[in-house]
Amino acid sequence: MKKNVRPKSPFHRKTILITSGPTREYLDPVRFISNDSSGRMGRALADEAVRRGASVVWVTGSPDSGPRPGIKTVPVVTTEEMSRECRRHLRRADVVIGAAAVCDWTPVRKSRHKIKKGPRTRLTVRLRPTEDILRRLSSLKRPGTVVGGFALETQNLLKNARRKMADKRLDFIVANDASAIGASESSACFLDRRGATVFFPRSTKTRLARRILGEIASRWGNG
Ligand code: C5P
Repeated sequence: MKKNVRPKSPFHRKTILITSGPTREYLDPVRFISNDSSGRMGRALADEAVRRGASVVWVTGSPDSGPRPGIKTVPVVTTEEMSRECRRHLRRADVVIGAAAVCDWTPVRKSRHKIKKGPRTRLTVRLRPTEDILRRLSSLKRPGTVVGGFALETQNLLKNARRKMADKRLDFIVANDASAIGASESSACFLDRRGATVFFPRSTKTRLARRILGEIASRWGNG
């Protein structure tokens, strides 16, 4: 009689590197600029990837809980730290998913001491762009590693998302609008570089994570 063998998940023995949460850029030792990202999407992706048999490296600006089996949590604060940690783990990664809301700007000058205020003080802060982590990872990756990200847009969602996918040389991108940030539910669109567009109706981020990993598995799961 034939044994009832359960098929192996496409993510069995694969390593998935996920960035998540916000990063912070400091003006002085106590003040920073950042954004409202909760890190929920990245966390849901990490949990779902483990459920599908992957090992996960979760590089996150919002570590939220203690150790979880199958997930190596790498807490970071700044964009530079996130970039460094991702590069450190890139060699092991079969799939990279950039779900972080990276702080795109950093002060040109960082004060070593808390900036003093006076009744007539006016402070002008000059900002320069931070490094684009995903762009760098896609230029450094070994052939065969799948790299994708998210695009949060307030206008021309799909057009801008496609442009980002091409600019950053990504294999896929998940487009969503600004209502997704910090929210527990969101709709989204999965786009791949071959031109496919898959719409996911509004649902929890857990469900969205399932669908996103399903799309990745169906395209690149046998590599
Ligand atoms: O901010 P932007 O819309 O360009 O983000 C698109 C994708 O690029 C996201 O997946 C985000 O995590 C990633 N990103 C990054 N490094 C940045 C900015 C964005 O990896 N400095």
